[in-house]
Amino acid sequence: MTAKLLLLPGDGIGPEVTVQVRRVIDWLAANRDLSFDLDEDLVGGISLEKTGEPITDAAMDKAMAADAVLFGAVGGPQWDKNAFDKKPERGLLRLRKDMELFANLRPALCFPALTDASSLKPELVSGLDIMIVRELTGGVYFGEPRGIEKLAGGGRKAVDTQLYTTDEVRRIARVAFELAGKRKGHVHSAEKSNVMHTGVLWREEVTHIHDTEFKDMKLTHILADNCAMQLVRNPKQFDVIVTDNLFGDILSDEAAMLTGSLGMLPSASLGAKDPVSGKARALYEPIHGSAPDIAGRNLANPIAAILSFAMCLRYSLNHEAEAALLESAVAAVLDQGLRTGDIMQPGKTQVGTTGMGDAILKVLDAAAR
Ligand code: IPM
Ligand code: MG
Repeated sequence: MTAKLLLLPGDGIGPEVTVQVRRVIDWLAANRDLSFDLDEDLVGGISLEKTGEPITDAAMDKAMAADAVLFGAVGGPQWDKNAFDKKPERGLLRLRKDMELFANLRPALCFPALTDASSLKPELVSGLDIMIVRELTGGVYFGEPRGIEKLAGGGRKAVDTQLYTTDEVRRIARVAFELAGKRKGHVHSAEKSNVMHTGVLWREEVTHIHDTEFKDMKLTHILADNCAMQLVRNPKQFDVIVTDNLFGDILSDEAAMLTGSLGMLPSASLGAKDPVSGKARALYEPIHGSAPDIAGRNLANPIAAILSFAMCLRYSLNHEAEAALLESAVAAVLDQGLRTGDIMQPGKTQVGTTGMGDAILKVLDAAAR
């Protein structure tokens, strides 16, 4: 079966890291029993420059028809002043919304070779393995009404709406409990039920799904601010954290950074499984963002993008063996002491984006012999 992939490299370091993913895809096509139908299109600032839209309808149609979308990054300072609907980020948000990618999986794991790179003490983070499950198509990112209005007496007012329905909370809770079932069986659900109605609903609905469908899992409710604090105090108490769109945005950045591996972490955004085909729409993306300050200088770390493709092999294409092969190739290269600038440590060898890609392909070649 040929896997239909849409590459959306986007802005900043997105294109550079995507080039390395393409090399890995080509390697798999040549050396494994896998075939790919690759297409590429524009998203973000580059799309705005060339088409006037953060993503075109034509690119959206391709994304909807693909088995998976491989996304690079969007955004940069040159577009910061753009009107809201002409910001590069709208391209990503439209992909999430129109593809109904409600479940965002963000693993925060500490690679053994990088334990010392964390800002926390090594014993707090060594062996750390957290999965953040962020609700991705609801909440304050999309709730109506939203906007900025002039006030009659002068000044303006801005409104964003935090909104969640029973079904939205229940379906993301199920994803979290199902994942926990394959891990340590413990879900923390983070909200602000002490100040927000959406937090109260969130807590009640997660409890309901737990009590009716996942009684054998452990469920702990935690206020989102306390969760942020506990993540730096004692991160290893967490297994799976399920939370809303905005808290998930913040907590996942925090969790990623405390692994010392921000440039290393992949993510998957998944839709509901089609009841007939069993397939789910999916988008895979490194969590590091566009990093305009280092773009185009062969400094970016391509590992997060390559590991995002490994998640694609696992969750969308059902090729667990190849996913594990890529993950072990990454670990091997780190064990060889090779580092991009973001994870450079004394006594290690610094390589560029292409050099890191070369090294990973070399390990893959050796494995194929
Ligand atoms: C993320 C990013 C996005 C978000 C931006 C780029 C819209 O920060 O994926 O975490 O806020 O969701
Ligand atoms: Mg974010």
